[in-house]
Amino acid sequence: MAIDITFLGHSGFLLSDGTHSLVIDPFLTGNPLATISPQQLSCDYLALTHGHADHIGDTVDIAGRSGATVIAAFEICNWLGEQGLQKLEPGNHGGTIVTAFGSVAFTKAYHSSSYEGRYMGMPAGLVVQMGGHTFYHAGDTDIFGDMALIGEIYRPDVVALPVGDRFTMGPEQASRACDMLGAELAIPIHYRTFDLLRQDAVGFNPAKAAVLQLNPGDTHRLD
Ligand code: NI
Ligand code: MN
Repeated sequence: MAIDITFLGHSGFLLSDGTHSLVIDPFLTGNPLATISPQQLSCDYLALTHGHADHIGDTVDIAGRSGATVIAAFEICNWLGEQGLQKLEPGNHGGTIVTAFGSVAFTKAYHSSSYEGRYMGMPAGLVVQMGGHTFYHAGDTDIFGDMALIGEIYRPDVVALPVGDRFTMGPEQASRACDMLGAELAIPIHYRTFDLLRQDAVGFNPAKAAVLQLNPGDTHRLD
């Protein structure tokens, strides 16, 4: 069992176990660092952390063309339904959606969530079980003490944490967050994309986890 983790840039990922694939937060159009176009992506599932434009991104296009099932907050799913998507799996904090590859659980995130002025529900982190691995995507968030509880409950072995500062944790807080989560591998996200964000992950030095810096388009296989 293995998963291939492809970084799409910003907070976006494509995860694949060889049979099923999951896209998370595909912000490609308008992302100056993206190396993959929406037309190059297809998946059978797509999950969103929250409703901000740099996370919803190309969801309607990719999910519509691929026929993917979208997993997102109830309010985001309502909006996606209005855009014409039909395969929707709404959820909220604490809930787990069972999928063909495993599952996706919603955890809390300390942030906001709206799209063009419309309330998009609570922002979330996502815990993905796929290919014998547990991948925690923190979404956009500050550090919070319950990350230790997320670590205890879900035992993620790989985590993706925002380090870009200003709208989320910076690298020092993200290091402490990673220590609370207890993962072996940590991928810094949500930096470099815009001038307002930190332009590197300097200072992201978790005590135990190895740091895996991926450039947009890079794939890392976890056996
Ligand atoms: Ni956001
Ligand atoms: Mn964001």
